[in-house]
Amino acid sequence: MFNLSEKNQEYISCEWLESGISFTYEGIYNCCMFAHNTVAFKPVTPINKDWTYDFDSFLKEKKKFIKLHRKGKIIDRCKGCQRLEKKTWDTNFKIKQLAISTNTKCNANCIYCYTHSRKEFFNKLDDIPILNFFKKCIKDNLIDENVSILFGGGEPTINKEFEDLLSLFSQYPNCKIKIYSSGIKYSPSIEQCLNTGNCELVITPDCGDRELYKRIKGVDKFDEVWSNIQKYAAAQNENRNQVRTKYIILPTINDNEEEIKKFFNKVVEANVSYIKPEIDITAYSKIKQDKEKLVKLFKLLVFMEKYAEKLNINHGVAGNMHCAMEGNRNLYDEIKNEYKED
Ligand SMILES: C[S@@+](CC[C@H](N)C(=O)[O-])C[C@H]1O[C@@H](n2cnc3c(N)ncnc32)[C@H](O)[C@@H]1O
Ligand code: SF4
Ligand code: SF4
Repeated sequence: MFNLSEKNQEYISCEWLESGISFTYEGIYNCCMFAHNTVAFKPVTPINKDWTYDFDSFLKEKKKFIKLHRKGKIIDRCKGCQRLEKKTWDTNFKIKQLAISTNTKCNANCIYCYTHSRKEFFNKLDDIPILNFFKKCIKDNLIDENVSILFGGGEPTINKEFEDLLSLFSQYPNCKIKIYSSGIKYSPSIEQCLNTGNCELVITPDCGDRELYKRIKGVDKFDEVWSNIQKYAAAQNENRNQVRTKYIILPTINDNEEEIKKFFNKVVEANVSYIKPEIDITAYSKIKQDKEKLVKLFKLLVFMEKYAEKLNINHGVAGNMHCAMEGNRNLYDEIKNEYKED
């Protein structure tokens, strides 16, 4: 589609700017860096009035951005981003990072989700068609064989094109697929991907208690979700880290050791081997300058990490928690070093 036809050179840029695309109901972005806090995050090309994407304009803009980066000028929308790095970038454009959030409909109603305050509106929006566009990209050899594909939303498993998209991408045996799901609807296609091994599935139950689940997620699906998590965990191949359960710490709601222990009981019961602690993005933006609250957050994080280790469960951290740790490394290390088990 475009070739900058210049020789390779080293400059500051980012994988997403160079070779990424993120589709959302608002339009096309270079990346899914929604937590970017230096500039207003807006689409490169907004969604068309007829609910389609303007891919050609997007590519034209992207080409301009890359040319500016090549000249050593960081474009405004990327200034200050932690993903910028200096290296030699490919001159031929191929899609290497893909984020698909083309539906906003969901079968849950989480209190912290961007859809929560306008649920009726978001549940009525049609899924934006994208399957034919990808078929064309494949025909034009625009997709890198090692492409990373992320499914978000809304809820991907209820997107009309989800199953077809998964089977379309199955022709790339080296692709890496990451699916964020409520876990409410069981997907045999996800099971298949877990079985072949090129998929990571992240489900966010946020708790191990039925009543609390109802309060946080707005639906009475606690048993169904944990049973689906167990089925997905059983479908994994020898890489036991493919199914991951996330716990978003929500101040005054689930930010205590008792609820975290209940979560771990369900994780063990479901035979899940990987957990991802997170902090609600809104809560984090309020507490990031408040040392006392950061101390409380890191104490809970360290508690989760140590508890996981005791149970032989692997752990990582999700995006906002990662920013919190990186921005306050010394404080986090201090709390970790001082940690004592009761
Ligand atoms: C918007 S959801 C869409 C995909 C799917 N419905 C789900 O919940 O996994 C994508 C990811 O964003 C996370 N997320 C949503 N709202 C968040 C918030 N306020 N703070 C931190 N993470 C959030 C969810 O937990 C999920 O892992
Ligand atoms: S530098 Fe940051 S904001 Fe810019 S495309 Fe990359 S991830 Fe997105
Ligand atoms: S399951 Fe995902 S999309 Fe649905 S309400 Fe929760 S966070 Fe939002």
